[in-house]
Amino acid sequence: MDLSALDFTGRHLFVAGGSSGINFGIAQAFARAGARVTVISRSPDKVAAAARQLQALGTQALGLAADVRHPDSLERAFAAASARFGPIDVLVSGAAGNFLASALDMSPNAFKTVVDIDLLGSFNVARLAHAHLRKPGACVIQISAGQAFTPTPFQAHVCAAKAGVDMLTQVLALEWGPLGVRINSIVPGPIAGTEGLKRLAPTEETLDAMTQRVPLRRLGRIEDISRMAMLLASDWGSWITGAIIPVDGGLALTGPRDFSAAAAASRRDR
Ligand code: COA
Ligand code: NAP
Repeated sequence: MDLSALDFTGRHLFVAGGSSGINFGIAQAFARAGARVTVISRSPDKVAAAARQLQALGTQALGLAADVRHPDSLERAFAAASARFGPIDVLVSGAAGNFLASALDMSPNAFKTVVDIDLLGSFNVARLAHAHLRKPGACVIQISAGQAFTPTPFQAHVCAAKAGVDMLTQVLALEWGPLGVRINSIVPGPIAGTEGLKRLAPTEETLDAMTQRVPLRRLGRIEDISRMAMLLASDWGSWITGAIIPVDGGLALTGPRDFSAAAAASRRDR
């Protein structure tokens, strides 16, 4: 099989929320495939450490502190990244925040905080990236979540925000398709060893229950997600746009989840 489609030598990957977890795993996978990588997130220490680890893989990498809620900081980051590595070939937008809380236990600011990071942040990233995307040819990948289409108690903020993210994906696919820019959402299932999963399954019992719920009876691995990202960004994905793609061992088929035990455990921790 000809795997040259998965060679990203010299291409520019920009990852919003790229200093840890799934998004950093995507950055590492593309770095190993030759891409030059920019990662941004709020913490200057985390982005600097991420850039060092990516450079250790033998590629050029830039770590920039920016908050997706603050358009000015994002604009500076996009300008610095494209000045260094040229137009962005692949944009991954995955900055997010989460905690378990019932709607009644959530202050307006708690709800707004997650919507601001996940939804408004994704809009800011896409909108401000646009001037720096390679046209035609760029591929945008939004990192969504199953809460976008599965009503989930204790997740009102994330459900609302990620549903908006997926709708944004579809609208931008229509608006940007004629420019030769593709945009898709990847919907990860529960991914082992990540902050996101730690927040939704904080104990052995809740983690085990989550695993048993997945039709394929295992948690996801970060490479399950980075491989889908590489496929979408490669020539093999060149006719895919506006798609919402679960990579979740079949979890999306199983209906609403019950996070009451996990919510009780995380209330005890707080
Ligand atoms: N239950 C209820 N409300 C909560 C909460 C919880 N567990 N955690 C935070 N909040 C509320 C805060 O009380 C605050 O509301 P208030 O001003 O009315 O008191 C609001 O949320 C904002 O909290 P703050 O800590 O100021 O926000 P932040 O912008 O510093 O951080 C978070 C954002 C809360 C999402 C934080 O958890 C974060 O930075 N997460 C990033 C990592 C992550 O979540 N990874 C998983 C991705 S899926
Ligand atoms: P993570 O490690 O906490 O990743 C979140 C990243 O976003 C961090 O790098 C964080 O760095 C950054 N970030 C947070 N707020 C930001 C802001 N305001 N501006 C810029 N960057 C910000 O979590 P993860 O579990 O790997 O999740 C990654 C993505 O996958 C998220 O979009 C999440 O919704 C999605 N997802 C995860 C799972 C899972 O099982 N983990 C399942 C479904 C979907 P800073 O703290 O430095 O800002």
